[in-house]
Amino acid sequence: AVKRTPLIAGNWKMNFDHLQAIAFVQKLAWSLKDAQHNYGEVEVAVFPPFTDLRSVQTLLAADKLAVALGAQDVSPHAAGAYTGDISAAMLSKLDVRYIIVGHSERRGGHGESDETVGLKARAAVTAGMVPVICVGETAEDLEAHGAAAIPVQQLQAALSQLPAEAEFVVAYEPVWAIGSGDPATPAQAEEVGKALRDVLRAERGDAVADATRILYGGSVASQNVASYLKQPNLDGALVGGASLKVDEFSRIAQFTK
Ligand code: G3P
Repeated sequence: AVKRTPLIAGNWKMNFDHLQAIAFVQKLAWSLKDAQHNYGEVEVAVFPPFTDLRSVQTLLAADKLAVALGAQDVSPHAAGAYTGDISAAMLSKLDVRYIIVGHSERRGGHGESDETVGLKARAAVTAGMVPVICVGETAEDLEAHGAAAIPVQQLQAALSQLPAEAEFVVAYEPVWAIGSGDPATPAQAEEVGKALRDVLRAERGDAVADATRILYGGSVASQNVASYLKQPNLDGALVGGASLKVDEFSRIAQFTK
């Protein structure tokens, strides 16, 4: 069997100022250390708002903490007259390793197309970072097409913009499960995870399909995280609300299968 290092990712969305961010990450790192959390077996990442990245980076670098840094979005453009955008090169200078692209709150709330999401993923890869490509169906999509059709289509569209050697992570987040307290069942999430891995295999071959991590997101909590990680095609979690409570997020990161 292929071994993929699970990734537990905390998407803070638009929460915490830089002082709260520093306090949070410090507590998180201590808590994981106290618990003798095995960093070699699980990778933990936090995705603060842009304005907190510098503070968190300074803390992580100074204390050599084994928490990876992620950003929640990136410009599809390299540089220039794009007021309000943040480029991949800027994020790379802050030691950002992961960048969320295509979160449903940006696809839905900001009208981002599949093409824009693909260009953002490409911008991340070009600057040496790893995009976390979010895909997921709405409740209406689920009703009309079943669970997997839209996520499969969204992944294919993003892959069409990515170079062959690109490293990336896929996050399956059913829109109806986000922030609802009503997560997909592990079996439902696994079914879509399997469909997404089949896409990776068909489009990128065995090596990429076997190495790429597919996360589940949508009302993940410490009580349910292990049930997703047990599934053969799910390799981690993208956590929203529960990633803002340090004890809870630490417990999620200490899941045992
Ligand atoms: O990106 C993670 C997120 O959309 C899931 O949010 O609050 O349901 O864990 P939540």
